[in-house]
Amino acid sequence: MDIKRKVRREILSLTRPQHGGDIWQYGNVEDFSSNINPLGPPVELKQFFLEAVDKIQHYPDDSAVRLKKAISNRFDIPVDQIIVGGGSVELIRLFSEVFLERGNKVIIPQPTFEEYSFSCRFIGARIIYFPLSEDNSFKINFEELFEKIDRSIKAVFLCNPNNPTSKVETKKKILEFVEECEKREILVFLDEAFIDFVESPNNFSCIQEVENHNNLFIIRSLTKSFAIPGLRVGYGIGSKPIIRYMENARLSWNVNTIAQLVASKLINECYDHLEKAIKAIKPEKNRIFDTLQKTKIYKPIYPDANFFFVRIDGLGINSQEFKKTMLKWKILVRDCTSFGPPCEKYTRFAIKTPEKNDKLIEAMNIILTHIKKPKNGEM
Ligand SMILES: Cc1ncc(COP(=O)(O)O)c(C=O)c1O
Repeated sequence: MDIKRKVRREILSLTRPQHGGDIWQYGNVEDFSSNINPLGPPVELKQFFLEAVDKIQHYPDDSAVRLKKAISNRFDIPVDQIIVGGGSVELIRLFSEVFLERGNKVIIPQPTFEEYSFSCRFIGARIIYFPLSEDNSFKINFEELFEKIDRSIKAVFLCNPNNPTSKVETKKKILEFVEECEKREILVFLDEAFIDFVESPNNFSCIQEVENHNNLFIIRSLTKSFAIPGLRVGYGIGSKPIIRYMENARLSWNVNTIAQLVASKLINECYDHLEKAIKAIKPEKNRIFDTLQKTKIYKPIYPDANFFFVRIDGLGINSQEFKKTMLKWKILVRDCTSFGPPCEKYTRFAIKTPEKNDKLIEAMNIILTHIKKPKNGEM
């Protein structure tokens, strides 16, 4: 039998998205390529695991009541407006499965997190990319975006703060956009996976607005905030009907028993860990920015979140070559080529502890001293 003839046509052309954090391939490296809490997980994490481990002999709570209650209490959002997932990435796929059909038109800014286009390609939706301009530090030009949204569009995906650019848009701008979309019956998928790392997140997060906007679905991730990418827990907040249909369609037992119990405890008991991280990030962000800017070759964009997006083509090498070179110092950064042009000229790395950041800066400085001298002062 020719299996290929049995496969859905969308799957035949599907390629996997690229991600940072692939330490399994490189062994003993310092991972700057995944943007997680620089303090690592809270010290209580191991204890939470030990307490949870006996419960593994039971199926997970399919309704995830305890975890949803923890989220509900933390953000003062009703339980029936919350869905949890095995990482927020599961909810990206689920959203597309529930709301999109083959041929539906969606708008996705570019560059952004690749999982949105991956889930849309999986369904066979028609993607209209909305380019973010380098001249505008990759911020969204909402006037231009407004012009693109007519009733033929089914959904718009936004990432705030955006990955890989580390730029955040204000809540006011996002909400104006959500309201315009609502008038045209367009869904808005809003990814706030990095919002915990922005200063004054309340000025930027739309999490309290889902009640008033029927068309809005927001995802959040415990991965970044509590430095637990291996556990796989994320959640979504949306209008009641959005959550109801997503709940109906999700996989049974989608978040395992340990993840549910540990995540509930982290949310209930460890939010101060996140506050400490935000305090630690700010001076390091400014120090790294100033250091790189002074080189005049590295061109950092001032980050709003906990990671840097830096133009490196002044070195005469591209993103892939830069990653390879940094690996000589056992430092793993993100090759940004897969985000599409002009990201092959950029690198992305997380802000970590001062000692680790020193090592990164040292390696970047050594690379600088080895680059060819520019011709006619062109750099
Ligand atoms: C912007 C953004 N959203 C969502 C995710 C998914 O994170 P997780 O599935 O670990 O919650 C990532 C992971 O890199 C991300 O960068």
